[in-house]
Formats: sequence, C-alpha cells, structure tokens
Amino acid sequence: MKILFLNGPNLNLLGTREPQVYGKTTLADIEGSVRKQATLKGTSVDFRQTNLEGELVSWVQAAKGNFDAIVLNAAAYTHTSIALRDAISATGVPTIEIHLSNIHAREKFRHKSLIAGVCRGQIAGFGANSYILGLEAAINIIEAAKK
Ligand code: DQA
Repeated sequence: MKILFLNGPNLNLLGTREPQVYGKTTLADIEGSVRKQATLKGTSVDFRQTNLEGELVSWVQAAKGNFDAIVLNAAAYTHTSIALRDAISATGVPTIEIHLSNIHAREKFRHKSLIAGVCRGQIAGFGANSYILGLEAAINIIEAAKK
C-alpha cells in the first residue's frame, strides 16, 4: 500500500506561520508523525511540499500507477486551481482533501474548494491531526477497494 502526501504553498513555513491559525507544529514534525503511524499500519508513504502549482499538478499526474491514494493539502490552490482539480479528475487516483484549519469557519474566500468535488472527502479543522485522519481515510479507501 503506497500513499502520497502532497503539500502546497507556504506549508513549508508551518511552525512560524500564523501559529494562532495553524499551530506550532512544523511540516517536518507532521511528516514524522505520519511516517510513525504509517509504519504501524504497514503502509509506505511519500511526503512532499512545493510552492509551485504546476509541480503539484505533475505530482498528481505521476501518481497514477505508482500510488494507491493521495492525501492532499493544496493550501491556497484549494481555492483557485482548476488545473489541480482537472489533474485529480484525470488520473482517478483516490484523493483525500485535508486542511489544518477549518476552512468553513474562516474568510468567505476559503469556504469554496475547487478540488472538493473530485476528492473522496474532506478533512478540515483538526490541526496536525488532519494528516493522521487523512492517512486513516486513505487506508480505509484502499482496503475497501480490495474487497
Ligand atoms: C490550509 C487552508 C488554506 O485556506 C490556506 O490557504 C493554507 C492552509 C490549511 O491547511 O488549513 O495555506 O490549506
């Protein structure tokens, strides 16, 4: 079982970026927790971050045939990227949308996710734990598909 974790722009700044919104946990800390939990579940994970929209699109495209599921925090591209939505739709790799913050309780422009309609579901508002919940959701989806 192989799960790809993708992180969009500014998530490299976690730890110092608006800690009142995103917490003090760094992306490296989150990766560590995800890897620990994935090992316990016997799952292999790849964990990446980029500030570039096109790179996210290319990674989603390349996931087809190489990963069983994607857990995606597209950050601000969630609200703007038709290209990312099209890539998820085109590749058909089951994708789970995640966010640290509850985007629905924030500014209006964050309430709309352009990728939600092509993702299997959305997890938002649980801080760093959204990543662990995303991992659980991905494992459940992969296991259900095998039955
Ligand atoms: C975010 C929410 C987005 O609205 C924002 O642009 C981010 C982070 C989150 O994890 O809460 O960069 O995806």
